[in-house]
Parts: sequence; structure tokens; C-alpha cells
Amino acid sequence: MKKTLLLALVAMVSFASFANGQKESGKIVIGANIYSFADNFMNGVVKPELESYAKTKGVEIQIVDSEGQQAKLNDQVDVFITKGVNVLAINLVDPAAAQTIINKARAAKIPLILFNKEATEPGAMASYDKVWYVGTDSAEAGVIQGKMMVSDWKKNPAWDKNGDGTVQYVMLKGEPGHPDAEARTVESVKAFRDAGINVEQLALEADPNWSTVHGNDKMAAWLTSSFGSKIELVICNNDGMAFGAITALKAAGVKLPIYGVDALDQAITHIADGEMNGTVLNDGKNQARATVDLAVNAAMGKNVTEGTNWKVQTNGTKAVRVAYIGVTAANYMEYKK
Ligand code: GAL
Ligand code: CA
Repeated sequence: MKKTLLLALVAMVSFASFANGQKESGKIVIGANIYSFADNFMNGVVKPELESYAKTKGVEIQIVDSEGQQAKLNDQVDVFITKGVNVLAINLVDPAAAQTIINKARAAKIPLILFNKEATEPGAMASYDKVWYVGTDSAEAGVIQGKMMVSDWKKNPAWDKNGDGTVQYVMLKGEPGHPDAEARTVESVKAFRDAGINVEQLALEADPNWSTVHGNDKMAAWLTSSFGSKIELVICNNDGMAFGAITALKAAGVKLPIYGVDALDQAITHIADGEMNGTVLNDGKNQARATVDLAVNAAMGKNVTEGTNWKVQTNGTKAVRVAYIGVTAANYMEYKK
């Protein structure tokens, strides 16, 4: 009996020192995730910058793959908390599940930076004084993409294949419920209406994974559908899906104007080759940097923007929003690596 108690005590003491060990070593540890390592933008742009920028700041960042499962992320957060990380940097899988993560961070008294997917539950951000968001103004990408498309449409009367003055378009939406997908879907099309140009949606497809495979499958199916020959414009809410659509267009020997969002390296190459008409730079590098900057300051109990140029919005969203930039054939050289 005594022995068991002793063993239990030893276990408790060593667990406690393990839990606090990272804090005692003096090095700040950020417990982070990416909602899915299969995502072109999050895995290709944001993750490497989180890692390299954390290094320059002398902090440790542990990044796990949530594999598109919110339940998995919830467990990963529990593990980070048990390990005693100093701060959490979380890319939600489900934007409507922020409150669960916020509650965990609050109970553990650990600051939390949410990034890329903004919480959609009203009141979630206000429920904890140590949670902030780093991302973009979701609507802005759609506004910029829309203006770009309107301007090109006006310059290319031949794009109106049936000459009815209306844009017959198909849309690859991305993840339903994701604030970026929802806002881009509305704003890009609204730009045409605002310019007095009629639009007709021939098809819209959502894809929780924002994936190239889905873009390819859908575009291929649309091209052989009853409305296939009527399509005049392909709107993609991210480049990943656009890449798949471009492959499908090429395979079918069809050339259509096509636009994306993110400005991935491959999109710049497609623009250079005339296979894509435009994209919108989603500045993942600066989003990663802001995430690390805020996390480090929060872990040190400082004002989150201290020593940085980031601005936290005071309108209740507690968000740092990194600007989008339009990229077309006219300026893509500036974004070429
Ligand atoms: C968006 C981005 C998409 C995808 C998504 C994941 O901001 O444009 O390509 O990465 O985030 O949440
Ligand atoms: Ca038309």
C-alpha cells in the first residue's frame, strides 16, 4: 500500500515537473496545428513560415496535423495543455467549434491565437480575454477578384460567347461555412452586378478540402454536362481548386477565363503561361508572422502587438487582418520567386 502511494507520488511529481519543464527551461513553446496538411496554402505557405519565423524569434513551435477532424484537434489541444505549452496557435477545422477550444485554453489559463479560420459563433471571442484572431478580411479577396474579373470581362467582348451580355459562370466554392469561402462567393459575383453586368450561375460546388482533385473532377463533369458549352467564366475561391480545373480544361481542349485566390507559386506560373487570368495574394507569410508575434507576446504576458506593426481591431473581433493583393498578367512578375 505504502509502495503504491510512493509510486503515485513519484509519478505525480515527475508529471508536474514535465508539465512545467518547458516553461522552466526558459524557451517559449507554442502548441500549434494546421487543420489539414493536405491543404496547398496552409501546408505550403503558412506552415513553413510559422516554423522558420519561430526559429528567428528563438521560440519552439510544435505543429500537428489535425487531418480535417475537429475531434482530433480537440484531443491535440488537450495534449498540448497537458504538456504545458505556453501558448496555443490554432487553425480550427470547424469554424463553428471555436468555443470548445477557447474553453479549454481559458480553463488552462493559456493564451490562444486562432488563425486562418475565423470563429463563427457569436460571442466566442468575447468569452476569453486572452484569445485573438489572425487572418484576413475574408470579403476583401472576393472584392479584389471581382474587380479584376469585371475589368477583364469589359476588355474581352469575345468572352461573352453567346453575346447575351450576361456572364454564364461556374463557381468552385471551397469549404462550406468557412468565412473565406462564404464571403468570396458573394463578393466576386457582386462586383459584376455593381458594374451593371448580369450574371447567371450555371453551377456551384463546395469542397471541404479546397482541393485540386475536386477542382479537376468538377470541371471535367461540368464540361461534359448539358450546360458545358455555355460556360464563359470559371471562378475559384482558391488556387488549389483552380489548378485542377485548368487540368480539366486542357484535357478537354477548352480555353476559358479562370481566376483563383492565394497566389501560390504554381498560380504565378499559370498566369505567366496564360493559363490562368488572375489570383489574389493571400499573404500567408505575414499571417504566420503575426500569429507567432502575437503568440510570443501573449506567452510573455505583454500586450500582443508590442514591438510589432500589427494592429488588433477593436470592433469585438480582436483580429489582426493581413491585406490581400490582386495578381494578374500585369503585375505577376513582382510575385515570381
Ligand atoms: C483560405 C485559403 C484556402 C484554404 C483555406 C483553408 O484562406 O484561401 O486555399 O487554404 O484558407 O482554411
Ligand atoms: Ca453570356
